[in-house]
Amino acid sequence: MKIYRQETSRSLYERAKKVIPGCPFCPEGGMYGHYSTSVSARGNPVYFSTSRGSRFVDVDGNEYIDYMCAYGPMILGYNHPAVDQAAREQYLKGNTVSLASPVMVELAELLVEMVSIADWAFFSKNGADPTNLSVMAARAATGRKKIVAIEGGYHGTTPWMQDAGSGGTLEEERSSVIRIPWNDPGRLQSVIDENPDDIAGFISSPYHHPVIFDNELPEDGFWQKVEAICRKNGIVLIVDDVRAGFRADLSGSSTYFGFKPDLICFGKALGNGYPISALVGTDAMRDAVNHVFYTGTQFFNAAPMAVAVATLTELKNINGPASMLESGKKLTDGLVRIAQSHGYDLKVSGLPSMPYLRIANEAVPPVFTEGFSGLHKGLHADWISECVQRGAYFLDYHNHFISTAHSEADLQRTWDIADDAFAAVKRIYGDRF
Ligand SMILES: Cc1ncc(COP(=O)(O)O)c(C=O)c1O
Repeated sequence: MKIYRQETSRSLYERAKKVIPGCPFCPEGGMYGHYSTSVSARGNPVYFSTSRGSRFVDVDGNEYIDYMCAYGPMILGYNHPAVDQAAREQYLKGNTVSLASPVMVELAELLVEMVSIADWAFFSKNGADPTNLSVMAARAATGRKKIVAIEGGYHGTTPWMQDAGSGGTLEEERSSVIRIPWNDPGRLQSVIDENPDDIAGFISSPYHHPVIFDNELPEDGFWQKVEAICRKNGIVLIVDDVRAGFRADLSGSSTYFGFKPDLICFGKALGNGYPISALVGTDAMRDAVNHVFYTGTQFFNAAPMAVAVATLTELKNINGPASMLESGKKLTDGLVRIAQSHGYDLKVSGLPSMPYLRIANEAVPPVFTEGFSGLHKGLHADWISECVQRGAYFLDYHNHFISTAHSEADLQRTWDIADDAFAAVKRIYGDRF
């Protein structure tokens, strides 16, 4: 099997280092944020040249089946014809104008019709916009200060959402956020008891999809207990569906897991790659949102709204979530079987449409103990690297994403690549695992 080389990517990256800053995960510069973590991975490309359907081509001409889907936004496939047509038509009419476009109303009506709890929808750009607005709305609704969130839960880069010690953030900004373990409603109750009448909201993704560690679905009854506790104590229940949204259920991942939040944050897949996010909520939360001032110059861009209408309509027409759940299950069942044939135990966690992978022969991967400085080291990371160098774009520390564009032929090709990559790591590690 051909092993890819990335000379052009790497020389472009050398140029980037001189003119683009980095971040804690990429202190040498040239790339920042979530795109920076893969730059240091062995054999990883840095820049793409084109994309189509489930695949992209890097600047060296290598083609990859993409299981990162731009970290979630790509859900129908890159350059999807109906999506791009909707964008083109709206761009011709106008995008950023001194008035909103009627498509804003159309999109809000569609979300209200589609999402079980939604009586209204507010639009913005990135996922951190609705998560931020949701906690402001929770505070406005309750007159209380504190927010309960899950340890390791990610809601964006606004200072209150960042871990202690993150550069440029203040301890005060985190002081009203209390983190509790996932799947522990008892702990939620004790936090409420310790902070009587002071908890405004509980925010969590619909299941636990942290970076680095295995993903965890809710235990039976978890969400129903959380919902009951929040109702009893007048706490606003917020689901951060920015990552999982539309990959479990078009009506919200809360419908998939059988509970009713007050607010849901959507982002990523809503625009199939065009910049749009949304906060939706119940009538009971409408007045609180009316009391919060929150906006942005680009919040009213009409083309991404037209795209979101096209994306949701297409996902509904083809029953997108069911097909992604099915192909994710098929992909990972095949990978597990191939791993076994090489003597490896591939552990799959999370939703099948957003699978997290880890070769469990290595009980404690370096990244578990060293955090981000252990990134791209060890057996699992090496297998991922071997897959990437053969054309299956995986990442070693993050959940993956399935789109409706991933075909049977993609799965078959991925299994062939995985097979060759397992043989390659066997040559590196022999019988050590
Ligand atoms: C669950 C979740 N919430 C919020 C965000 C923040 O979204 P954005 O990076 O678009 O601000 C992300 C981004 O990865 C996310 O996964």
